[in-house]
Amino acid sequence: MAGTWRGSLQARLMAGVVLLAAGGMVAVNAVSLIGLRLNLADAADATLAKARATVQHRVRGHTAPVDEAALNSLIPDGFYVALIDDRGRVIARTQSRDLDGQLRPRPDLPTPVPDGFADRPLTLTAKGTPVPRYRTLGFRLVRPATVRSAPGAPPRPVSRVVVAKSLQPADDVVYWLIGADAAATLAALGGIVLLSRVVLRVGLRPLRDMAATATAVADGDIDQRIEVAHRHSEVGEVATALNRAFDERQRSEEQLRQFVANASHELRTPLTTIRGWAQLHLHGLAQDPALIERAMLRIEGEAARMHATVEELLLLARLDQGRPLADAPVNVGALADDAVTDARVRDPDRPVTVDVPDEIFARGDEDRLRQVLQNLLSNALRHTPPGTPVSVAARALPGDTVELTVSDEGPGMAPDTADRIFERFYRGAESRDPATGGTGLGLSIVKSIAEAHGGTVTVRTAPGEGSTFTVTLPAPRSLPASRSLPAPR
Ligand SMILES: Nc1ncnc2c1ncn2[C@@H]1O[C@H](COP(=O)(O)OP(=O)(O)OP(=O)(O)O)[C@@H](O)[C@H]1O
Ligand SMILES: [Mg+2]
Repeated sequence: MAGTWRGSLQARLMAGVVLLAAGGMVAVNAVSLIGLRLNLADAADATLAKARATVQHRVRGHTAPVDEAALNSLIPDGFYVALIDDRGRVIARTQSRDLDGQLRPRPDLPTPVPDGFADRPLTLTAKGTPVPRYRTLGFRLVRPATVRSAPGAPPRPVSRVVVAKSLQPADDVVYWLIGADAAATLAALGGIVLLSRVVLRVGLRPLRDMAATATAVADGDIDQRIEVAHRHSEVGEVATALNRAFDERQRSEEQLRQFVANASHELRTPLTTIRGWAQLHLHGLAQDPALIERAMLRIEGEAARMHATVEELLLLARLDQGRPLADAPVNVGALADDAVTDARVRDPDRPVTVDVPDEIFARGDEDRLRQVLQNLLSNALRHTPPGTPVSVAARALPGDTVELTVSDEGPGMAPDTADRIFERFYRGAESRDPATGGTGLGLSIVKSIAEAHGGTVTVRTAPGEGSTFTVTLPAPRSLPASRSLPAPR
């Protein structure tokens, strides 16, 4: 369960939200703390500049030497002053006290204090924990002054002064703010975790519903569909796509069931006939040699029919699988000529005309394209009255397409029949006689072959106006070198 939660979309989204929020809060807090620290240092610098002005002013109007004790009483709490002679030695210095009067470590001045030390304010530290910090400013006195290290001691000349202001109050504010910020950030993140859990759970509910529906469909409840609340949302689009996939699966399952039922029915009729004749023979009822011969002929005929049906089914199954067909230039003009010659032999009394250029090439599988022409021509012969004229034509269309047409002047078809003739096992009313009719697979094979070539098949027909079947096929990208020029007729 823990693994599931770790990998779940909800957990990952939540981790992302929390990480982003935490990153944002830490960045904002850091920027504001740094800004505050700089601002407090600026304020300390301004105070130090003021202190420098005061010292210079006092030195101008004061000639008597001061001593360290007096110096201490002059310096307000939070400040520190060191008096330095010409050689950089500290000759007097004050104590350093907190704002509440507590003594604290003095800032660490370098020894000797170099000339020009802390001309611009800088931060010095002192020994202690937490490390005391001082903002420090050094300057040269406008008038030399003197100092006694103790009452009665000889006065010593002072040339420079270093004043420092404790940064402790500022640091206290910053440390307090860091603590407050951390607590507020943690509380806000806790709130975000709780809220985002609720929001994500509600937001992801449609996905869970989808998974439940898909599982139900997979388990066999194929009528279930996902409810789509907002079609154009991302989730709505996924739901619509899934519903379409479920529809498609249901449709193809029904088609397959229908196909198997039709195929079994188609094979059952000849099998029943074969069994009937075989039983007749086995039970000794067919003694007459003429009857036996008839039995054998019928058995042979029905077996041939079954064989043809099984071959057609196999071919359709292969085409359905999308197995690659041969992809060579095929002279469909020659194929049309051959098919018409065969048709004239089968039905010598029928006028069958052919109108094809000597060489017209399509791209594809020669045997399959031959079958297309055979199926269309045999339909024209079988489904029209004897003597009805039939014509076959082929021509190149613009856009690298070749068009084959097989037309007859037969009875044609009503629109509702014409709509269904490319369905598997569909036969017109007049061709449903099991003894003479076909299996109803001829045109569906034509359609599958045309589509496997990237082409199409259509029919134009109306009752009393004959039928014209049109097949389009892609032309080859380049013609075979030996056949690129049309031979003279
Ligand atoms: N040229 C045509 N004129 C009129 N009807 C046609 C023509 N071609 C096809 N049909 C109708 O279309 C139906 C389907 O044709 P299809 O070729 O698929 O099957 P079939 O010819 O009946 O059997 P087979 O599988 O042996 O070809 C036919 O039963 C027939 O009713
Ligand atoms: Mg047919």
